Amino acid sequence: MENKLLIALENTENNEFFCDIEKVHHLFVSGQSGSGKSIFLHKVIKTLITQYTSKDVKIVLIDPKQTEFCTYEGNPRIVGGKPLYRAEDVCEFLNGLIVEMNNRFKIISESGYINLNRYNENNIGNQLDRIVVIIDEYADLIYDTKKFCTKLMEELTSKGHGAGIHFIVSTQCPRHDIISSVIKANMIGRLSFKVADKVDSKFVLSKTGSENLAGCGEFLYSDLNTVEPVKGKVSYDEETYQFIAGKWKEYV
Ligand SMILES: Nc1ncnc2c1ncn2[C@@H]1O[C@H](COP(=O)(O)OP(=O)(O)O)[C@@H](O)[C@H]1O
Ligand SMILES: [Mg+2]
Repeated sequence: MENKLLIALENTENNEFFCDIEKVHHLFVSGQSGSGKSIFLHKVIKTLITQYTSKDVKIVLIDPKQTEFCTYEGNPRIVGGKPLYRAEDVCEFLNGLIVEMNNRFKIISESGYINLNRYNENNIGNQLDRIVVIIDEYADLIYDTKKFCTKLMEELTSKGHGAGIHFIVSTQCPRHDIISSVIKANMIGRLSFKVADKVDSKFVLSKTGSENLAGCGEFLYSDLNTVEPVKGKVSYDEETYQFIAGKWKEYV
């Protein structure tokens, strides 16, 4: 069981650095339409499928627009074998995830361990896996569920990381009516592709700057360890293109 859950990023000097999902609890991704959010999410999915086993990580894909994740239909590494598209299905899933989270807390505390990692280190062969929920275009979910799912997401992002539940939430609408202040505060990792203006950049990173990015995968990343946001670029290579196009079948 791999305890660390790392997403590799590259700075502008082509040096690799990592978003440690466990440390940031959850990752908030934003940027205007066409700035590179979905390609980045595909790369995250590729990392989770190729670097981690199904024993380590469960992957949940949520795609309310039904435009990005259809390519993974039939992929056994995806929970349910396909992405969730409909808002009702997503709310049902999130409700179930709260039950799972509370069960996990019970298992961990009843066995006398202080956290999931300690529990896992002492229960080899019976570890609790990580559950990574990836949402492409969170705003559509909010429009469809009339904010009902905000309540569920607030609970899950507040406590979920302690039970191995992590969210990667992407939206082109970085605003408080979409991402509540509670949810935003719970997502320590922030990745901003090019945004429309300074206000949007401040919403995502608490700093201006991402309004000046070039687009096509250029980003600023911040978490608790970064003094200033780190500038980088997502490489969109042939291998990633092929993976998205169906080569993932070779890994499952
Ligand atoms: N990292 C990248 N490098 C080069 N081109 C990119 C990159 N990311 C995105 N693009 C280009 O921009 C297009 C839109 O990217 P996409 O990720 O779908 O944007 P978004 O989801 O933010 O709307 C892609 O089809 C691709 O042609
Ligand atoms: Mg997109």
